[in-house]
Amino acid sequence: MKKIVIAIDGYSACGKSSTAKQVAARLGYTFIDSGAMYRAVTLFLLNNDVNLEDAEQVENHLDQLEIKFDGDSILLNGDNVDTAIRTKPVNENVSIVSAISSVRRKMVNQQQSIGKDKGVVMDGRDIGTVVFPDAELKVFMTAEMSIRAKRRQKELLEKGIEETLESIERNLEERDEVDSTREDSPLMKADDALEIDTTHITLEEQITQIEQLAKEKINED
Ligand code: DC
Repeated sequence: MKKIVIAIDGYSACGKSSTAKQVAARLGYTFIDSGAMYRAVTLFLLNNDVNLEDAEQVENHLDQLEIKFDGDSILLNGDNVDTAIRTKPVNENVSIVSAISSVRRKMVNQQQSIGKDKGVVMDGRDIGTVVFPDAELKVFMTAEMSIRAKRRQKELLEKGIEETLESIERNLEERDEVDSTREDSPLMKADDALEIDTTHITLEEQITQIEQLAKEKINED
């Protein structure tokens, strides 16, 4: 059967990764959370006391880090960092790190190589615009801020991390702003992406909708 690439972009905490993961599982595709890769780079740089404002210093550290996926888990130089990449210091610095061009080049190369044989669902900010501009299915997800913050708070609580709605909203707003206004590959909807507002729909509905769209594309001649 024909394999396709599914690109899911959008703002932080709109449910992109949860949706992409389930869509991939239903289609038997590989799921890649590209945001987790930028988070892993950020964690590495913070752990090594690299000055994030110094793009040259950042670039000089990039060949010391290797990111791999083991199923849905992410490994940084062989260590599982699934929990460490969701902490506050990473949340607060990941947009700064992901605006650095050398970081983006390294991540995009790896993402394109993972998706070269298709059969992949990747979520992020620039997947439909930069990483896979020829993706057969592109989705751009949005949702109202209050819903996004509540969903993120619930997710964090499930991981045992307590944070106020106010602080979550502030972080999401800051990241939206930096992600959408950076010079290199800013977050934007690809012209041929389908926009889905997830404010009033359930996760199950999001998954089913994208699964259906994907099946239509797979069965197209
Ligand atoms: O999806 P997320 O919230 O885990 O992503 C974390 C950050 O990574 C996000 O604020 C911007 C950056 N990012 C990016 O620049 N490009 C991507 N393709 C994915 C994420």
